[in-house]
Amino acid sequence: MSEFDTVIRGGTVVTAADTVRADVGIRDGRIVAVAQTLTGGSRQIDASGLLVMPGGIDSHVHLAQPSGEAVMADGFESGTRSAIAGGNTTVIPFALQPRGASLRQSVMDYHREAEGRAYCDYGFHLIISDPTASVLGQELPALVEDGYTSFKVFMTYDDLVLNDRELLEVFDCARGCGALVMVHCEGYDAIRFMTEKLERAGRTAPFFHGASRPQSVEREATHRAISHAELTDVPIMIVHVSGREPMEQIRWAQHKGLRVYGETCPQYVALTEEDMKGLNMDESGGKYVCSPPPRGPADWEAIWEGIRTGVFQTFSSDHCPFRYASETGKLNPKGRTSFRWVPNGIPGVETRLPILFSKGVVEGRITLNQFVALTSTNHARMYGLYPRKGSVAPGFDADLVLWDPNRRETIRQSLLHHGADYTPYEGLAVTGWPVMTLLRGKVVAEEGRILGAPGDGGFLRRERSPYALPAGAAAPRPLNGAMPAGA
Ligand code: URP
Ligand code: ZN
Ligand code: ZN
Ligand code: ZN
Repeated sequence: MSEFDTVIRGGTVVTAADTVRADVGIRDGRIVAVAQTLTGGSRQIDASGLLVMPGGIDSHVHLAQPSGEAVMADGFESGTRSAIAGGNTTVIPFALQPRGASLRQSVMDYHREAEGRAYCDYGFHLIISDPTASVLGQELPALVEDGYTSFKVFMTYDDLVLNDRELLEVFDCARGCGALVMVHCEGYDAIRFMTEKLERAGRTAPFFHGASRPQSVEREATHRAISHAELTDVPIMIVHVSGREPMEQIRWAQHKGLRVYGETCPQYVALTEEDMKGLNMDESGGKYVCSPPPRGPADWEAIWEGIRTGVFQTFSSDHCPFRYASETGKLNPKGRTSFRWVPNGIPGVETRLPILFSKGVVEGRITLNQFVALTSTNHARMYGLYPRKGSVAPGFDADLVLWDPNRRETIRQSLLHHGADYTPYEGLAVTGWPVMTLLRGKVVAEEGRILGAPGDGGFLRRERSPYALPAGAAAPRPLNGAMPAGA
């Protein structure tokens, strides 16, 4: 019997801290050795010419989540299949509490959706749409104990929006529980005002989705969330930041010493407002409708500035797929009458890594180590999965992606494994592509072929985020190889 079930030989191991030529020894689903030369191993994987990195952790994906009358294109099976094909080994989708429902019951419903279907590991964030006294007083504290250690709250959307008082109540509850709160920052009243004004003027095409929520709307809500977090003395994560204005608010808060973190996504460095035009005749603009909306090249540069300087800790997909040519998707009968009814969200779990690698590493904007931090390590650290997930070192789960840094691909719908019928990145040429994905030592995807099975992935009960511990508790190390929040 060998000391190792599997040895990955000849690759270059990349972590958030180091880039070294090393072999990786795996036993019973865990990494047990990383060394210049390992002998033995029942199975050998040749990684020469490849990077060996921790599998992607996508801490912002939506699976099997209802959205008005629209039906999401991915449940747990197709969504996680797409994730592993794209080099990911963990996703953290959301369990949404509909208004009036028990949060615990909602969590159980999502577990039923996920059980036996997932190709990769998963946890859940809790979307709180109805912060009643019993939710805040009983359900949330108990759920945090059970490993659901992060919440998401919304400052817009008819069915999800919380008013300022409710935001403050949730923040205060999170402070008490040690949970990390993700905040969707767009101002509800401003969007309603703009939407109705645009509709009165007959401006109903998908393009006007962007005009209904310009950056000032996102900037104002970001500032308001930060102020409420300061008032309640609780750390928050501002998610899916789209451009310079909200980025500068987060940077300002960090320089003030507030524990405010930031997430951004591929759509904010690769898509533009113009994409939503798609010329109203064929209505293809709807393919790009997401919130916040894509901005444009000047904002891409601001997002890179935030990535490089450590304003953002995580780069997530916000995978939120709807079929395009579908009565229950983007082109639902109401969606054809106004942008207001086009379901918000775009697919992206499978293309997140190649887009960041190509535009970030290959084009010289970030280092390989920052790439790993932004796609894996920081997600694990931020959301209570470290040191089980998020690095290549003894003791970590053998969740790995073998990556060809020189492979050129053109992103095409035909290459992808999601349930959507399009990709918003169709035709985008990238350099760098996943060759093999291992989940706890098992090869689950290779060269676009799925070798894993539904049920390979399991539920992850997460620890509390070290970034959400009470102020004054041991300060976490800086993230992203750049300055810490507050530096
Ligand atoms: O348009 C988007 N991003 N839809 C997904 C829901 C959200 O706000 O993250
Ligand atoms: Zn959101
Ligand atoms: Zn989202
Ligand atoms: Zn600073």
